[in-house]
Amino acid sequence: MTSIALFGCGTVGMAVCDIISREMVEEDGPLSGCSVDMIVVRDKTKYLQDGAKNILKDLFVDDMQEALKRIPSVDVVVEMIGGTTTAWDIVQTGLVFDKIVITANKALLSKYTKELEELNRTTKATLAFEASVGGGIPIIKSLLRDIQWCTANAYGVRQISGILNGTSNYILTQMEENKLPYETAVKMAQDRGYAEADPSADVLGWDARCKIQILQRLAFGVTVDPENIVCEGITDIQEVDFEYGKAMDCKVKLVATTVGNKNGVRAWVLPTMVPMIDPIASTNGVKNIVSIYHETMGPISMSGFGAGGDTTAHSVVSDLYNCLKCKNTSSVWFGSARHCRKDYVADIQLRFYIRLTVSDKVGIITDIGRVCETLSVSIDAVLQNPVGKDYDFTKDLLQFVVVTNETSYQKIKELKERLVNCEWCKGDPFLMALL
Ligand SMILES: NC(=O)c1ccc[n+]([C@@H]2O[C@H](COP(=O)([O-])OP(=O)(O)OC[C@H]3O[C@@H](n4cnc5c(N)ncnc54)[C@H](OP(=O)(O)O)[C@@H]3O)[C@@H](O)[C@H]2O)c1
Repeated sequence: MTSIALFGCGTVGMAVCDIISREMVEEDGPLSGCSVDMIVVRDKTKYLQDGAKNILKDLFVDDMQEALKRIPSVDVVVEMIGGTTTAWDIVQTGLVFDKIVITANKALLSKYTKELEELNRTTKATLAFEASVGGGIPIIKSLLRDIQWCTANAYGVRQISGILNGTSNYILTQMEENKLPYETAVKMAQDRGYAEADPSADVLGWDARCKIQILQRLAFGVTVDPENIVCEGITDIQEVDFEYGKAMDCKVKLVATTVGNKNGVRAWVLPTMVPMIDPIASTNGVKNIVSIYHETMGPISMSGFGAGGDTTAHSVVSDLYNCLKCKNTSSVWFGSARHCRKDYVADIQLRFYIRLTVSDKVGIITDIGRVCETLSVSIDAVLQNPVGKDYDFTKDLLQFVVVTNETSYQKIKELKERLVNCEWCKGDPFLMALL
């Protein structure tokens, strides 16, 4: 009998309980030899009132210290409580005792990557985390097993780009399709349960940054602190940016990217103008997409629901099946250090879109040209479209866009700082990448 300890019974945990309780009673099913030993929550009273748990209802435990003490006696630890404090105690204890540990927790994986690598080296435990990136999209196992060949010294992934946060994608879709202001779209996301009361982690790009950090570690073997990944969110996107997007035949998306080549490994999360023909551009609402560019396979994309109880639970249970099927093949999920291609490079080289809000006067373009020349930033285009028809662009407040050729993010930040000091510049210039 394989005994399983489930930590957390919320959106994901509840759906995992439902699948497991169905599958365990299936004779000859993949989980037929399994039993759930405990379901750990903060307060079990509310779960006992809920009759939905059927056969599992006697298993609730709400004493975390007791639950941690019981870990040595189980085979599999599934962490679905979230956060990086108690969740870390659970995952660490499971790994130290050589258990199969499954987690959906990207924040934890991102924060403790180095500690997990050390535990991967020093224990016989297995760590699986399919649900941590892209919810129900089976990207991690596909990447490691089928695309990157984690057990051979075979590379091939050149770039991974995607929409890795469904909440911010829902907000952008609402803003674009229904011409809603940002605040209204956030409120809609909260009303539908897509965004938390404090949506910062989603709208500021932090959630996507954890996920691209994980994918980057898996694809290129480089471990980097999240703070070293360039990250800007969607809070300053305005309706006019979608109009410029249309003029440029692009959609505005929050895109997370990692690139590995002979010059090193880079990663970033930025609002991005995505060409209409790219599958990322047509990924709308709460959907996620991961696009991989591979040396021999060319472009590959997988899209689907990046969150939600049932979809995420499917990934958790698929980890469970795989780990049980491949017992004693620990460590495959974290790849291996020999996949390390090159060092991480914090600065990035991209084409940028800079939207400026200015008070109209003679000489603005001359000033911009001069600052760009000083910084060796090459301008590709200057756009002013639309011109005041549907917008309240009075003569005192105009918006227009400068598109640069490929240049470094550091230089663009410097450019922004210099432009904001020009007396005609009103407010912070807004920056996006071009895919
Ligand atoms: N929701 C999604 O769609 C989704 C998608 C991908 C990944 N994830 C990840 O999955 C994890 C779980 O997310 P979720 O949405 O299911 O969270 P949730 O709905 O808030 O559920 C959390 C569960 O954990 C329990 N819990 C929390 N803190 C605890 C503690 N200190 N001690 C004991 N139990 C504790 C809660 O018990 P009480 O109810 O008693 O407080 C609840 O049962 C997170 O890491 C999240 O990032 C979620």
